[in-house]
Amino acid sequence: MLCVSVFTGCLALKSKGDVDKDIVDFAVNQLGKQIEIIEASGKFMNPRTVHNDKTVYVSREDWTSGFFPGTMWYMYELTGDEKWKGYGVNYTAQLEPVKSLTKHHDIGFIINCSFGNAYRITSDEQYKLVIIEAAKSLGTRYRPVPGVIQSWDEDKGWQKDRGWMCPVIIDNMMNLELLFLATRLSGDSSFYKMAVNHAENTLINHFRKDYSCYHVVDYDKTNGNVRGKSTAQGFADESAWARGQAWALYGFTMCYRETKDIRFLNLAENIFDFLFSHPNMPNDLVPYWDFNAPKIPDEPRDASAAAIIASALYELSAFKDGGYKATADKIMMSLSSADYLAGLNENGNFVLKHSVGSIPHNNEIDVPLNYADYYFLEALLRKMKIEKSN
Ligand code: GLY
Repeated sequence: MLCVSVFTGCLALKSKGDVDKDIVDFAVNQLGKQIEIIEASGKFMNPRTVHNDKTVYVSREDWTSGFFPGTMWYMYELTGDEKWKGYGVNYTAQLEPVKSLTKHHDIGFIINCSFGNAYRITSDEQYKLVIIEAAKSLGTRYRPVPGVIQSWDEDKGWQKDRGWMCPVIIDNMMNLELLFLATRLSGDSSFYKMAVNHAENTLINHFRKDYSCYHVVDYDKTNGNVRGKSTAQGFADESAWARGQAWALYGFTMCYRETKDIRFLNLAENIFDFLFSHPNMPNDLVPYWDFNAPKIPDEPRDASAAAIIASALYELSAFKDGGYKATADKIMMSLSSADYLAGLNENGNFVLKHSVGSIPHNNEIDVPLNYADYYFLEALLRKMKIEKSN
């Protein structure tokens, strides 16, 4: 199989394996520079994006803080170079206090991407306790009457003025991986049960007939009823925010892996059909930030959504033969082209260009994002593992 080289504008024909190796080499140099700058500062800094040509670093309580340590772990897996393991160990350790965070649901993202990967790769017992503690913290947000984990507080934080009682966002599906892991590590099935209840209720309440999903579903904590369905980061309440669809695809694929409940697999396949039969899905399979954004094709793309979708599809391809790997390969080909892959030492030394944080908040539009890089490298790793085993 022949394809286009990853490097800027170069049309040299290369084999698939060579392209993957080129990306790894590129990431070694690009992220190597990013870490060199951080290490030279003598401080712990956690890069998230670029704003006004400056790298934005975040606190450990930011929802994205687990992605940079997780990226270090993926670089270790991709290269086998102990240097990256050292960074993985150090940057993961910085997040230990997050294990007690209860003020939002993102502890799942933060701890699973950092400590979860650390444990998966090293089997080091020290990581177990943090993971279990973090799952307990996430569990404090479980609301038994509606049977969901509350994403954001109704009276504090960035959405406190919306009048919600128990908002659950589709992104929350991603936090369930921490709960499944905690049950495996502790033997305490309560984490597993919370995760399954949350996934079942999300399946029932978040999806439309066409298998697109709402961003936010607000529950009544007292009787479990749905109070409303809306958006925070999408174009409109009834639109299909691209990253939300990506979280849904990834989240339900992961839930199928953990439970083998066929309803979750069926839903993941239906989400795939929605995404890839949508008239607004571009030819290069990197979605616009919202499938219903009003000025398509003059709307920003979201490479982060594409990377999450690609990674999810590699996992889905292990469960069902539905052309999922071929689609993921096509996304990876696009992301590996000069259209999305950054130039060396450009883009704040992030790997991918052209992601979107939140357009309704006029925040992070057409920028690099650490989670785009994280899921891109995860997808690459999954792709390489599949191809090696074939
Ligand atoms: N979980 C927040 C986002 O996807 O922007």
